[in-house]
Amino acid sequence: MEELIEDLKKLFASNYAFYLKAQYYHWNIEGPDFPQYHEFFGSLYGEVGGSIDPMAEHIRALDAYAPGSFARFVALSGIEGDDTIPTGLAMAARLLEDNEKLLTMLIDVYRKAEAVDRLGLSNFLQDRIEAHRKHSWMLRATTKRV
Ligand SMILES: [Fe+2]
Repeated sequence: MEELIEDLKKLFASNYAFYLKAQYYHWNIEGPDFPQYHEFFGSLYGEVGGSIDPMAEHIRALDAYAPGSFARFVALSGIEGDDTIPTGLAMAARLLEDNEKLLTMLIDVYRKAEAVDRLGLSNFLQDRIEAHRKHSWMLRATTKRV
């Protein structure tokens, strides 16, 4: 159970970092494809943002405390922030790479939740896996050179 809690906290911080990065790109995208990228990153951070509160409450349901400071998020997150202003295509490529990391973490925590019969949590994680598979598809399609 301790390992599940620790890994769920890392997933939570990584999920928050991904959310913030997509929002940062939504804010700072420039160039001729601005409208498409601005909208796309907007819907991406919006969807992921909706998972933050329920994920924190799953941590509380395991009788642990949800991390909530930038210092803790940096310490726990497996996803790095970005201080640069890349092109829209490079932004999408970085988010695709991060999204794949999130999927790996989600599947790992899902298996740990199943192993200790935390079925509500595993059900929630299944839904998040499906959502991030869809994000992967859209990010892959966006970054494909045609
Ligand atoms: Fe906005």
